[in-house]
Amino acid sequence: MTESDEVLIRESFAHLHRRKAETGALFYGRLFEIAPEVRPLFKGDIRAQGVKLMETLTVAVATLRDREGLAILLRKLGREHRGYGVEESHYDSVGAALIWTLRASLGPAFTSPVERAWTSLYGEIAGVMIAASRES
Ligand code: HEM
Repeated sequence: MTESDEVLIRESFAHLHRRKAETGALFYGRLFEIAPEVRPLFKGDIRAQGVKLMETLTVAVATLRDREGLAILLRKLGREHRGYGVEESHYDSVGAALIWTLRASLGPAFTSPVERAWTSLYGEIAGVMIAASRES
């Protein structure tokens, strides 16, 4: 991820951050549409879940310059996700739902460079979580 990717991510995320619950709802609506098989894995309140996802993304964006700090959190999350019954292929569905949500929320501000930057960040996040889940 380049420095200009980081700027694009910070700027685009600033728009969403004020609308955490809304964005979370949009995300889960899309995820369950494209991957209905993951719906039963979620036992708790989906609104609260949407906010948690946004909070993790907030941490990821805030720690773009502290990859090791972020990796510690993500490794723990990755191990926990295995316990939730999450499979590696589900990460692709979550990535697709995330990109769809960003496009739906940001509209024309979701340019190709912004899309590439988010795809790269999500790939890094999912990569660390998946690697940790394989170790446990
Ligand atoms: C890579 C990005 C992801 C991030 C940042 C993320 C973030 C989170 C967070 C912060 C929690 C709450 C954990 C806690 O309360 O301790 C959580 C729970 C959960 N996540 Fe994820 N997650 C990701 C990917 C996925 C994927 C790919 C799936 C598969 C469908 C998934 C399914 C779940 C489930 C089932 C729970 C537990 C919900 C419940 O107890 O009802 N997550 N996630």
